[in-house]
Amino acid sequence: MDQRWYKNTIIYSLSVDSFLDGNGDGIGDFVGLMNRLDYLNGLGVGAVWLTPFHPSPRRDHGYDVADYYSVDPRYGSLGDFVEFTHGCHTRGMRVMMDLVLNHTSDQHPWFQAALADPDSKFRDYYIWSDEKPADAHEGMVFPGVQDSTWTYSPEAKAWYYHKFFDFQPDLNIANPQVQTELMKIIAFWLELGVSGFRMDAVPFLIAADGIRVKDAEPAYGLLRRIRELAQWRKGDAVFLAEANIPPEDCLKYFGEDGDRLHMMFNFPVNQTLFYALASADTRPLRAMLEASRDLPPTAQWAHFLRNHDELDIGRLPDDQRQAVFDAFGPDKDMQLYGRGIRRRLAPMLGGDRRRLELAYSLMLTMPGTPVIRYGDEIGMGDDLSLPERDAARTPMQWSGARNGGFTSSTDPVRPVIDDGPYGYRTVNVAMQRTDSGSLLNWTERMLRTRKELPELGQGSYTILPAPDHVLAMCYVLEANVSVFVHNLLDQRAELRIPVLAQDCSDRPLVCIQTNEIIPRHADGWYHLVLQPSGYRWLRIGGLEDMIVGEEPEADA
Ligand code: GLC
Ligand code: CA
Repeated sequence: MDQRWYKNTIIYSLSVDSFLDGNGDGIGDFVGLMNRLDYLNGLGVGAVWLTPFHPSPRRDHGYDVADYYSVDPRYGSLGDFVEFTHGCHTRGMRVMMDLVLNHTSDQHPWFQAALADPDSKFRDYYIWSDEKPADAHEGMVFPGVQDSTWTYSPEAKAWYYHKFFDFQPDLNIANPQVQTELMKIIAFWLELGVSGFRMDAVPFLIAADGIRVKDAEPAYGLLRRIRELAQWRKGDAVFLAEANIPPEDCLKYFGEDGDRLHMMFNFPVNQTLFYALASADTRPLRAMLEASRDLPPTAQWAHFLRNHDELDIGRLPDDQRQAVFDAFGPDKDMQLYGRGIRRRLAPMLGGDRRRLELAYSLMLTMPGTPVIRYGDEIGMGDDLSLPERDAARTPMQWSGARNGGFTSSTDPVRPVIDDGPYGYRTVNVAMQRTDSGSLLNWTERMLRTRKELPELGQGSYTILPAPDHVLAMCYVLEANVSVFVHNLLDQRAELRIPVLAQDCSDRPLVCIQTNEIIPRHADGWYHLVLQPSGYRWLRIGGLEDMIVGEEPEADA
């Protein structure tokens, strides 16, 4: 059995500024976060992924980095960061962090030097044009909010390229000096105890149009060199790519031999999963699961429901995208960039506990590693009065105390949700902790069970024949055999599942949540009844039947 840590862990994503304020200035910080490591550990989290915490003008939630080598003083110091990683390690948790290498802030000293002096070596760290390029109003990542991809700088007397906002000039990755800088940044944080990076905007980072070298191929070779460096400096470090690409391109990012990035978010599964929730039609999801197979042995998908950005459904065909908008974001104000929904999970699902469980259960049983967004474990809501993606970035709701216990200040970094069904008096950790039936306690139990099922992260899978509104999947890892069934319709479903694997055909399936035993029927199939929006986690022999495997093979 493969013992690679990232194949059987739970990743929890948070931004330091909205988790817990330790010094009462209204902004979350490392001291606050350290106070909640036992909470995260108790929930079953194996790795904490922090969104950018570097010094930054924070015009894009910190994705506009002004200094890669330190910590925003509002959050603490480098010393606090190391205390934090140490605190994680003593609890057996790992630290992952965002790595934003496609662009810097326009306040970064490299860009400032590049503006000031055309002969500076930093000029060539960025991408310039003397004339306004003909395609300056094409290819914006934030259409509707961002007007162009080239902006004129009177100081530099030239146009600079920016795939994202105009305050985020793209780095010129084709410049070997820039590559050397990137390697140094990675090595620096590895030395400080980081186990992995969520690599931001990878298709843009390596894209030919961001490099502007004649006949340039996407710079996949760079991904391999980054992997080589990390394996030499810290053998168990991983890279998790943010790349919203069609599944057939994924091997370019993983590397045919698994010699590039270790992990990728599975955006195609995410989009079709939301379509399945919206329409009860699981066929597109099945197609994406089929297309996501056959990875090199060290490669791994990461699955998620919501993240810190909009729910991006831009890759769905028009009618499917419209179905998701209709179900989960019908108002224009809920939609963003023409392709997404800027809401949290719970309000999208109308706060319906059965639908929330169904969504979570689906995500947790996808082939790969689950990634959870802070606050979703208690069903937090959104604040659509905040601009763009900030709607889903409100402070964590710890208790019914003022400002949800997030800060003692009267001026939180973003407003805490304080009224309606998702207000902090109604939705908070303290209340849910004491209620054994709460979403928080349900999530904790599900995560615990998920970790006892390594076949989900490492096994092979078959999509079993079932009606379109049911997803039934069987996972096999050595002698472990599990079946996960989900009924997307709000009606009772009767189901027959075929024999799963030859050597277990006479044995009963055991429902992991209830210990109910489902014997093999005389016709050779297993017969099941699913409640409306119901789900079942089943295993041959139950959880007690765990088989212990062999040593892992060598890494790529
Ligand atoms: C990624 C991040 C997003 C950010 C963008 C620019 O898409 O997820 O939050 O705005 O990169 O760095
Ligand atoms: Ca603070």
